[in-house]
Amino acid sequence: MKLSKIHELLETDHLELDALIGETEAAIEAADATKTFETLDYFWARLGMHIRAEHLRLFPAVREVAAASSDLENIPEILTVLREDHDYFMTELARAIKALRLVFSFGNEGETLVVVREILDGVVSRLKVHNEIEEHQIYTLTTDAALDPMAADELFLSIRGELERYPARFRGLAGTPDRQPRGQ
Ligand SMILES: [Fe+2]
Ligand SMILES: [Fe+2]
Repeated sequence: MKLSKIHELLETDHLELDALIGETEAAIEAADATKTFETLDYFWARLGMHIRAEHLRLFPAVREVAAASSDLENIPEILTVLREDHDYFMTELARAIKALRLVFSFGNEGETLVVVREILDGVVSRLKVHNEIEEHQIYTLTTDAALDPMAADELFLSIRGELERYPARFRGLAGTPDRQPRGQ
């Protein structure tokens, strides 16, 4: 089945997020607290942007699609679970970032990296299930058959806009990967 362009956009973002968290895992493995902090801070920001796109743009549209079809009665419940996952990811990553910040003031690097690794393992395993649910049950509701083509276009552009809306601390910084304009 051909994926909708919204589906492709968000699934590609999942892959990019997986690669970013891999960089953090490598930095932990190398016992490099500075690199762990930098890569995790960036992953956290990017995941925040992805979650924001889903909350503000995708989920309301999918909720409407589901409301129009009696076959999709389970969708609101799935969206609730996904939102709980999002809260978990952001809370846990905030905890990891906070722990790492303390390393720069108080040391304790080895123990902190162990804690951060545990937090990250929890996030990675839940994110894997979460992304599979989205890719198989939610993103699939963004086809032209489900949304009208104009609405699909508008939704695509608004999601892409959210995925390009970097927090101020990453805007225009040297070394910040400038995202290429995404395919239409
Ligand atoms: Fe999500
Ligand atoms: Fe997602």
